[in-house]
Amino acid sequence: MYLSICRDYEEMSVRCAQLIAAQIRLEPASVLGLATGSTPVGCYKELIRLYNEEGLDFSEIETINLDEYVGLSPENDQSYRYFMNHNLFDHVNVDPQLTHVPDGLRDNPQESAEAYETQAEWIGPIDMQLLGLGPNGHIGFNEPDDHFSVATHVVELTETTREANKRFFSSIDEVPTHAITLGIGQIMKARKVILIANGEAKAEALVKALFGPVTPEVPASILQLHPDLTVFCDEAAASKIVENGF
Ligand code: F6R
Repeated sequence: MYLSICRDYEEMSVRCAQLIAAQIRLEPASVLGLATGSTPVGCYKELIRLYNEEGLDFSEIETINLDEYVGLSPENDQSYRYFMNHNLFDHVNVDPQLTHVPDGLRDNPQESAEAYETQAEWIGPIDMQLLGLGPNGHIGFNEPDDHFSVATHVVELTETTREANKRFFSSIDEVPTHAITLGIGQIMKARKVILIANGEAKAEALVKALFGPVTPEVPASILQLHPDLTVFCDEAAASKIVENGF
C-alpha cells in the first residue's frame, strides 16, 4: 500500500487526478472504475482542467461506475448517472456509449444487478478503480455485514449511509432505501485501486480500513489484500492513523 497524507482536500484531489491522468496517458483505452459522492468532485474538476488545458484524451476510455440508487431515473439530479454526467462526462471527450452506471429503474433490481455484473465481467478487469470511503467503512455500497458480497448486488442501505447522504436530498424520507452496487469481487479484481478520504468524519473508518482487522464489518478493510492500493487522504482523515502511530 502507498499512503499519501496530503495537506488538504485540494492537494488530495490534484494528486488523485494526476494518477488517473497518468493511467489514461499510458493506456488510452483504459477501463476506469469511478465513484460518486463529495470526495471525488475535486479530482473530477482537475481531470476536466487537464482535458481543457493539457489535452488529456478520454476518447478511448471506458468507465464502470460503482453504484446507483434503486428507483432514481438518470434525469433525477440525485441519481449517480446524473452526477457523473454533470461532474465529469459532459465536460470531457468520453464516448457516452462507453460510460456505464447500473440501471436503477429496472422493475427487477436483482436482474439489473446481474446484468451489470455480466457487463463488468465482459468489459473488465478494471484498470484503475477509484473509491471513496463511507463513514461506516463501506466501499461502493458494500455495507458492513457478516460476509463480503462478491457479486454485484442489490443492497438495503444502512441508516448511517442514508443519514450521511441525506444532505443531498430535501429530507431523509427521499433518500432511497436500496441501491445496486458492484461487489467486492470486481473491485478486488481491478489492477490498481485508489482510495480517497478527507475530513474528520472519515478518520475512524480510514484507520480501521487500513490498519484494523480484515472484516466484512469494515468492508474497505478487504483492500489490505489488494496488491496495488494507493490511498490519498487529507490530514483530518489521517488523524487517527497518526494518533495511533501507524
Ligand atoms: C459512491 C460510493 C460511496 C461513496 C462514500 C463516500 O459511488 O461508492 O461508497 O464513495 O459513501 O461518500 P462521500 O464522498 O460523499 O463522503
